[in-house]
Amino acid sequence: MTALAARYEALVEAGELRPDSDQKRAVDRLVRLSEQLEAAPRRGSVIWRALGKKPEAVRGVYLWGGVGRGKSMLMDLFFACLDTPSKRRIHFHEFMLDIHDRLRAERAKEKGDPVLPVADAIRDEARLLALDEMVVNNTADAAILSRLFTALLAKGVTVVTTSNRPPADLYKHGQNRELFLPFIDLIEERLAIVPLNGPTDYRLERLGGMPTWYVPNGEEATAKLREAFFRLTDYSPDDAEHVPSEDIAVAGGRSLHVPKSLKGVAVFSFKRLCGDARGAADYLAIARKYHTVIIVGIPRMGPEKRNEATRFKVLIDALYEYKVKLLAAADAEPAGLYQAGDGAFEFERTASRLIEMQSDEYLSAGHGVEANGG
Ligand SMILES: Nc1ncnc2c1ncn2[C@@H]1O[C@H](COP(=O)(O)OP(=O)(O)OP(=O)(O)O)[C@@H](O)[C@H]1O
Ligand SMILES: [Mg+2]
Repeated sequence: MTALAARYEALVEAGELRPDSDQKRAVDRLVRLSEQLEAAPRRGSVIWRALGKKPEAVRGVYLWGGVGRGKSMLMDLFFACLDTPSKRRIHFHEFMLDIHDRLRAERAKEKGDPVLPVADAIRDEARLLALDEMVVNNTADAAILSRLFTALLAKGVTVVTTSNRPPADLYKHGQNRELFLPFIDLIEERLAIVPLNGPTDYRLERLGGMPTWYVPNGEEATAKLREAFFRLTDYSPDDAEHVPSEDIAVAGGRSLHVPKSLKGVAVFSFKRLCGDARGAADYLAIARKYHTVIIVGIPRMGPEKRNEATRFKVLIDALYEYKVKLLAAADAEPAGLYQAGDGAFEFERTASRLIEMQSDEYLSAGHGVEANGG
């Protein structure tokens, strides 16, 4: 039995994962992929050199379905169990930022098609690419994806990816979509399309109807949010001190420290997020990267806190735009956070969004945004 099959079975056996027939089917497919990848001779190995040809790429997998179905969980399990050093797991959005950086560097050399050397470099770094949360919502990505993936697959890279949409719905209503259609054909032809769309949103189920907005700040609220964090990430509360932190890149070459970051969930204090001169670029970086954000210590703000209130408004706009789930501890309900001062009128929309963000409908929506124009 492969490591993946054994691991999955053990988790179901232990009651950590509920039996789910869609997940089982997806695991079977990923098990087959693990076997193929582990059996395939390394690129450049003696066997291929003797045969005088290049290895065919092993057929990858496109896992798609509604939120909380376990796509990222299964992909991570697959990735962790895969016995090869030549693997890379990255969020799709970060992957594309990296690609655009590399393309820019290649173009500056003025040496023909920049896509080929970039694909070469990616291939040399890893034979298996695991891309979480594929979503196409800008023309720059849409324009490059078909040629990039054609080159990657031709060079023997295997791609495993997750998405909330089937391939045919990627970049739906996007500008110049006809130029994007070859990418959809490529994905449908070259990857196994595996739906993971059972009836249960496990993330929502794990929150078990817990409130997402706690008043007031204090020990009780902190304890509740800690519990939510552990439910969402499976991290043992005993190890609370060891939850990893990370620094994420922000447009403009800056970075932002995230004190706690695990499995797409980030924890911040209000002070860190809105107390210093942070702005839209920071908040968008957070909104793109995390499906859930937990903020503690949101104060009631008077007129003297207008800068904090403005930053908080920009932060909430970014989270809302990307349908990021928000859990928070505050000293007031949303409507009571900032009632008098510059911009208090505009803040009413923030309060209204904060209320909507507590609804089941919002909580069960997918992370990310629709393509431009729809
Ligand atoms: N069969 C299961 N039983 C119990 N919990 C599960 C099961 N499958 C997944 N989960 C848990 O549900 C949560 C959501 O899963 P996951 O993050 O993989 O969803 P997803 O499909 O990637 O969602 P999204 O589209 O929002 O990224 C995780 O905490 C995961 O461990
Ligand atoms: Mg996911």
